[in-house]
Amino acid sequence: MADPDQFQSVDRASRAGRTLGSRQLAALLPDPAEMKPAYRHLARAISALILDGRIALHVRLPAERELAAALKTSRATVTAVYDLLRESGYAHSRQGSGTWTTLPEGRTPNGVTRLLGLQDAAIDLARAAPGLPHSTLADALAQITPQLAGHAHTSGYHPYGLPELRAVIAERFTRRGLATVPEQILVTSGAQHALTLVMGLLCSPGDRVMVENPSYPNALEAMRRARLRTVSVPVTETGWDVEIIESTLRQTVPQLAYLIPDFHNPTGCLMPREERARILRAAQRSGTWLVIDETLAELALDVPAPETFASHATPGGAGQTITTGSMSKTHWGGLRMGWLRAPAQLVTELAAQRVATDMGGSVLDQLLALTLLGRVGELLPPRLEQLREQRTALAAALTEHIPQWTWQLPPGGLSLWADLGEPVASALAERALDYGVRIEGGGYFATDPGLLEQRLRIPYTEPPDTLREAVRRLATALADGLPVPSPARRPHWIA
Ligand SMILES: Cc1ncc(COP(=O)(O)O)c(C=O)c1O
Repeated sequence: MADPDQFQSVDRASRAGRTLGSRQLAALLPDPAEMKPAYRHLARAISALILDGRIALHVRLPAERELAAALKTSRATVTAVYDLLRESGYAHSRQGSGTWTTLPEGRTPNGVTRLLGLQDAAIDLARAAPGLPHSTLADALAQITPQLAGHAHTSGYHPYGLPELRAVIAERFTRRGLATVPEQILVTSGAQHALTLVMGLLCSPGDRVMVENPSYPNALEAMRRARLRTVSVPVTETGWDVEIIESTLRQTVPQLAYLIPDFHNPTGCLMPREERARILRAAQRSGTWLVIDETLAELALDVPAPETFASHATPGGAGQTITTGSMSKTHWGGLRMGWLRAPAQLVTELAAQRVATDMGGSVLDQLLALTLLGRVGELLPPRLEQLREQRTALAAALTEHIPQWTWQLPPGGLSLWADLGEPVASALAERALDYGVRIEGGGYFATDPGLLEQRLRIPYTEPPDTLREAVRRLATALADGLPVPSPARRPHWIA
């Protein structure tokens, strides 16, 4: 079979530290001419950017002279800024190798260890996962029953997935702009399974992986468990900074980069087409495998559903891209049904890897998936309409009850990414449980402990009345006062 994607070898040899460009940093900072004393304001701004995840940890800050030139200020001012950052624990210097970002000692992970999956009476805003109407599932089960006879007499082992399901998934990619044959598809038990298979095959402990900050926490956890070293690039409410992504790929040459370009979890951002093309080119140059998580791609609420990421590659340029997808958000997480698209040769290697762990997926589940994918044109529009209504209800309730929070309405996906105006997300999440709301603070989605304390992901996957009640409870928790964060958690503002 002619493989439409080229399989390229990856150079793991060159690894280097990362430097933040002086112009990149200056663009994020206020004008020193307008502040007195400038050095304090600048240091405070840099520490806030670090805490908010916009400046990654463990990157080298620009040389003092270069930053002074970019900011049109004196070298002495920048020296004072760096001194203050070092004193307050946001930077440290290495002999002869510059000044690097870090966090003050004593900061601990926030919320990361909170167990998901507890069943109690609290409104659950910790998960952004819609349910499936029981009747839809029951109908699908009835529909597959006559097909079972055709499978029952076979071995039932399909490490690549049922051939007819692979064909349907391949056809969906082709319709989304990327010609795909079934040999490029591996059916998996969800998108998370697809990611762990890929990491298991392509990465070794200690390898670098570029991730977004914030990102999907279970993906980050899988990387921690695989003992990979993450280098993060920021995603803010305005989206991605492609220059930073390009320079990170160039400077750190990661083995793999994991991105969620479609209605990013948790920010809701949608990556523009031109940025996709630039990232594809940059990854090709650094020999990095791109793992593109399209779990949320079909949840387009205000815009047309995006074409698949790799369709923006130059001809033959999709060979370094692995795309993962899932039915968990379009249909139901309980199906445990997902897939990946990769060069056919890689799919063969991944199938061998999955045989070593689970031999293959359940035939029954795959028949259900086939039936439900066949009905997606009928099932998806009402789901999107329901999400729009819930998003509207959540936004209205927040405006009414907690007007001091700010957020942007995401064009798709399942949640709002609220800015609380102060770093209280962990304290609020902890207190919210006493008021009957389970929710995770922004730190849960952060790549490093102590970051994104000012953010809260609020899913709109519950019915409108439940969302309104949840917001009322959060407002009451806030009004009653939050516990003072413990010293380990207290942000170390410079003032
Ligand atoms: C971005 C992203 N990727 C993967 C997953 C997990 O998907 P699955 O249930 O298919 O493993 C989720 C679930 O929330 C998600 O948001």
